[in-house]
Amino acid sequence: MELNEKILQCLEKSDKLDTIQLAKEFNEDHQKIVGAVKSLEALDMVTSEPAKSTKWELTEEGKLVAEKGSHEAVLYKSIPSEGIAQAEVMKTIPNAKVGFSKAMSLGWIVIDKSGGTPLVKRKVDNITDKVQLDLNEIKKGIDNLADNVRSDYKKRKLLQEIVIKSFILLKGPQFATSIKKLETDLTSEMLLTGSWKELEFKPYNFDALGQPPECGHLHPLLKVRSEFREIFLEMGFQEMPTNQYVESSFWNFDALFQPQQHPARDAHDTFFISSPATSTKFPMDYLERVKKVHSKGGYGSQGYRYDWKIEEAQKNLLRTHTTAVSARMLYKVAQQETFTPQKFFSIDKVFRNETLDATHLAEFQQVEGLVADRGLGLADLLAQLDHFFRRLGFRRLQFKPAYNPYTEPSMEIFAYHDGLGKWIEIGNSGIFRPEMLLPMGLPPDVRVMAWGLSLERPTMIKYGLTNIRDLVGPRVDLRMVQNNPLCRLNK
Ligand code: PHE
Repeated sequence: MELNEKILQCLEKSDKLDTIQLAKEFNEDHQKIVGAVKSLEALDMVTSEPAKSTKWELTEEGKLVAEKGSHEAVLYKSIPSEGIAQAEVMKTIPNAKVGFSKAMSLGWIVIDKSGGTPLVKRKVDNITDKVQLDLNEIKKGIDNLADNVRSDYKKRKLLQEIVIKSFILLKGPQFATSIKKLETDLTSEMLLTGSWKELEFKPYNFDALGQPPECGHLHPLLKVRSEFREIFLEMGFQEMPTNQYVESSFWNFDALFQPQQHPARDAHDTFFISSPATSTKFPMDYLERVKKVHSKGGYGSQGYRYDWKIEEAQKNLLRTHTTAVSARMLYKVAQQETFTPQKFFSIDKVFRNETLDATHLAEFQQVEGLVADRGLGLADLLAQLDHFFRRLGFRRLQFKPAYNPYTEPSMEIFAYHDGLGKWIEIGNSGIFRPEMLLPMGLPPDVRVMAWGLSLERPTMIKYGLTNIRDLVGPRVDLRMVQNNPLCRLNK
């Protein structure tokens, strides 16, 4: 028989039932009984009132006493017939202090000072350990203790009072001993035959919580990415096409005036592609100018003065930065009939042959912005960075001189993070060198300032993640993705 029906049948025989009593009778978990009662209540078959009762229960110490005897009895039993030095008993018996004073006041033991050192001796031949007997009764659920005895045990921390919450059941307006199956759906058949008039329908439960709707969730990186994009778009920046993970060394390095023997161009730092291993199509006149500025110099620069090889520039790789995208874009701008000022941004993946750890992966997303206009200077870059990072919620910036082959001056960007209470490095920036811009064909008074940062770092800070593997990779917890709030940067 179902638990619900068992309860109804019990209730038929008596006017009132306590759920605790039912739990005992059915040998069921109390919570299960309460669950069944709630469903009967929804059908108006029973009504319930919350009730509270108290019960005395053994404490951990009380359980020990029930098993092994009271402290005074244990002490009494440990005393040999010839007696024992007081200090000796105190050392060997647990809870000897309590046991000793209780046994003394019960008149079970005496101190014999007749023979020099005082000895503890038994005063009576046998004892009854009432405390142990009482506690064992309580353990069995029999409670006949006098109030003063009970409060003494409570003081001795052998007993504790616990409150039991339960429900008192009464018959409800729809009381019956069996549960009628209520209709949940009105069918066309019921309408056609008219049977709906006789049937009983389950009432709507307007208090039920609905199923959370199944829907897609944006990964935190995507949420932060759309915030970044929004900021750039609001500031009048255009998005660059980044749909090219595989890039030639030419656009990734050479166009950026990065010498061919630069350590970043090593397989330890860069993933080279084996198939197809090389690219062959380049704007050849521009390539010649790049070759010249590296090997011989030009535009007021002495260059690096080394033997520039096209084979090195042809090597394909997974782009190591989106500055390769910027280089392609600026080359395109340089081909314009007349130069017009430009503001570009991109947010996309880059790849580096890194040692993986809690904050580094071999691929990550880079956010990059650049502004090209006549006569720009360092002050413009500072103002632009201040403006941009302020919109991300960073109000205090610091700059540290840095080095990039393609920018001069170059600055690392540090921001004070209010939440973390410290300065953190958030990006890199600079003004592109003439050795990069002039071979492209940009007018000599056009300056391009640019900056880059990772998307992962601000995302980890925003969502309080300390390990990048909690954000990307096979260990990502989908609930983290589902439960994380919208990204709101403190604009
Ligand atoms: N390309 C740089 C990096 O990968 C970022 C950067 C972009 C620096 C533009 C200066 C100018 O760290």
